[in-house]
Amino acid sequence: MNIILLGPPGAGKGTQARILVEQRGMVQLSTGDMLREARTSGTEMGKRVAEVMDKGHLVTDEIVIGLIRERLESGDATGGYIFDGFPRTLRQADALGKLLSEIGQDIEHVIEMQVDDEVLVARVSGRSTCASCGEVYHDVTKPIPADGKCTVCGGTTFTRRADDNAESLKTRLMAYYKQTSPLVGYYYYAHKLRMVDGLAEISEVSGQIAGFLDGPTKL
Ligand code: AP5
Repeated sequence: MNIILLGPPGAGKGTQARILVEQRGMVQLSTGDMLREARTSGTEMGKRVAEVMDKGHLVTDEIVIGLIRERLESGDATGGYIFDGFPRTLRQADALGKLLSEIGQDIEHVIEMQVDDEVLVARVSGRSTCASCGEVYHDVTKPIPADGKCTVCGGTTFTRRADDNAESLKTRLMAYYKQTSPLVGYYYYAHKLRMVDGLAEISEVSGQIAGFLDGPTKL
């Protein structure tokens, strides 16, 4: 089963994707993570990507579709894919549909995570990530343990993202409403859209998502 997690920056897509990987053996395909990896490559493309991401704009469709194509061609997901942060434009959504049909697959559920803008600011500004395994923490809602060790891998280095600042978040939110939110209608009319209350506690959001994944694929 393949699913898309759709929602603005800080909605909790990465947090829920990691839970699904752990619980269901699905494969997380986060274009944000792939691009963060590309930016450390030191190539000209990596430098361009870093500049665009730090300002909060979207990277070009060609680049992200290419990254997803590469991963789908490697075919490593027997438990299904979680598309996290992709697609983000109508063009990306069309491309994903084509790429999946080429390998005889489809998207079963598109989970829209609904969260108020004010909460997003608090979430993103309090976020930190384990540098070793990528586990996501929050200063208030999911603090790093008192011993300073990651609960998943025991790592002791935590990073904050360069684009998690007020100015770049404003641009990221604008990009979401202008370029990504049309996907809500796109998937609604494809009968794939499911909505969850992203303001609920992390475990409660997971429960809502599990309800969809374990329920009928066509509503
Ligand atoms: P990307 O990495 O995809 O970032 P994003 O969409 O902005 O989303 P975030 O990672 O910020 O948030 P999230 O929803 O994963 O929230 P999280 O779980 O961490 O993209 C970054 C950039 O890359 C883009 O701006 C763009 O430049 C580029 N890019 C990526 N994909 C692209 C594409 N397809 N096309 C073009 N460009 C692309 O949670 C946030 C915080 O809240 C955490 O601290 C967490 O602990 C906490 N939290 C989570 N859930 C809850 C909850 N239920 N209650 C309380 N706290 C919670």
